[in-house]
Amino acid sequence: MKFFVDTADLAEIRDLADSGLVDGVTTNPSLIAKSGRNMLDVIAEICDVVPGPVSAEVTATDFETMMAEADVLSAIAKNVTIKVPLTPAGLKTCKALRERDIMVNVTLCFSAAQAVLAAKAGASFISPFVGRLDDMGLRGIDLIEDIVEIYAQYDNFETEVLVASIRGPAHVVESAMAGAHVVTLPPNVLRQLYKHPLTDNGLAAFLKDWEATGQSILEQANDRKNAAE
Ligand code: E4P
Repeated sequence: MKFFVDTADLAEIRDLADSGLVDGVTTNPSLIAKSGRNMLDVIAEICDVVPGPVSAEVTATDFETMMAEADVLSAIAKNVTIKVPLTPAGLKTCKALRERDIMVNVTLCFSAAQAVLAAKAGASFISPFVGRLDDMGLRGIDLIEDIVEIYAQYDNFETEVLVASIRGPAHVVESAMAGAHVVTLPPNVLRQLYKHPLTDNGLAAFLKDWEATGQSILEQANDRKNAAE
């Protein structure tokens, strides 16, 4: 399973990428707005930090302008993935970009029927939004299970299921259980994944016992090296 981070905050991206666990980045117009920065500069800087797919979303709603914006965005770096909304114009743009071998992430997916359309348009990624479905009193993960099952029926569907709008670690676990290919994580959720009080307590106890021995692994290794010389 791949981990993308869902943010346009460069400091967060640099910090999380340092973990070695980040495979890509997703942004959207709201996240770019939150960064308070010029979109083309932000995307270029993110692409320098993370070599994997970096989603940059078009903001036009008609095919011609989406294509023009996609040209600008994809010229920034090879790893830019063009994000298009799940609309007729968005899917037409998706198909045209895929014919040019440009990666495309189809976003704002809320139904299995929409996910089938995206796969037929050759999307590299489909982004179903689980949190926003949960917010409506539905079970967003049901949609992930349906899409994974549908895509598995067809060898010619190469679209990866990228679970978006993740609100917490449970969404990550349920996405993994459903067989999703990618999760895009808000920075706080990626950090929460590490956390368990028993890990903290267990480590504190191990370190206390170790300290009481007065031993040091590196000192012992050094002693052995010196003795062998
Ligand atoms: C995905 O690519 C979107 O940027 C994101 O996951 C939306 O999440 P939200 O529902 O928390 O805004």
